[in-house]
Amino acid sequence: EEWKEKGAAVGVRREVDANGQVVTKVTKKGVNDFEFGRTLGEGSYSTVLAATDRATLREYAVKVLDKKHIIKEKKVKYVNIEKDTLNRLTNHPGIVKLYFTFQDERSLYFVLDLASNGELLGVLKKMGTFDEECTRFYGSQILDAVEYMHSRGVLHRDLKPENVLLDSKMHVKITDFGTGKILDEPKPRKMDNGADPFPREESARAVSFVGTAEYVSPELLTAKEGGKPTDLWAFGCIIFQLLTGRPPFKGATEYLTFDKILKLDYTFPSGFPDVARDLVERLLVPDPSKRLTIDHVKNHPFFDGVNWGTKLWEQKAPRLK
Ligand code: ADE
Repeated sequence: EEWKEKGAAVGVRREVDANGQVVTKVTKKGVNDFEFGRTLGEGSYSTVLAATDRATLREYAVKVLDKKHIIKEKKVKYVNIEKDTLNRLTNHPGIVKLYFTFQDERSLYFVLDLASNGELLGVLKKMGTFDEECTRFYGSQILDAVEYMHSRGVLHRDLKPENVLLDSKMHVKITDFGTGKILDEPKPRKMDNGADPFPREESARAVSFVGTAEYVSPELLTAKEGGKPTDLWAFGCIIFQLLTGRPPFKGATEYLTFDKILKLDYTFPSGFPDVARDLVERLLVPDPSKRLTIDHVKNHPFFDGVNWGTKLWEQKAPRLK
């Protein structure tokens, strides 16, 4: 009842039968179409497993969610948000793509791109810190993916190195849109001057705290609302973390972390590059209207020399150092 599929989420296949007749078959993938393998990750409401499509031998990551648990913990809304946001974001190499959804009696299944090199956090922990070149490479791919999601009217609201996955080429795939938000549709306008197709972001409101303490923006803590600038605050935290190995705001408890964020209580370690410092200082600005926008960030000297657009995704990942 709660999980009925909206619309015709099915595939159409034409085949020639034994009599030479063309027949049209309506299909939908199910659990038995996949061979499940190793566990890739475990969350409080889901497990992600590697799986192979038996028909195509294509490998995927399948997120398995326990229906009873989700209903009991009142997370139905977030599961629907994840599906709806992912279904809007099907056309960018930097975002995990949702291929199929299906269910059985116990579970919901989201069939996603497999990101075989796991979380950016894991890679960062292994390296300790990234140099400027690696930070520029991963930072530019993250920013390009965030630009795409914002252009499609989607906020992520929980950007952090755990939600940035890496594929077999060490390219970025952003995941976990369970705390995402779809911005209001734009009003139809008479004049199309090529302006932002989603101009009403101000109306985006977070009803309650979502996200992870260390990356949450001051406006989400005070006004309990965030728009596109909220994702850019998190992006500033990520740039700081890639260069230093730790997020800028981290207290012993969530409360102390929030306190540091509201006081803008962070410092740059010695040796932190000046150009990167300037970028981070312009992103970690408490007033969201004074924070750098994506266009500003793309033109900041820290990203000088980056080929924005499709070229970004044809580039070879730098050797980690
Ligand atoms: N862990 C969580 N989601 C994943 C994915 N899509 N690929 C690889 N590991 C994951």
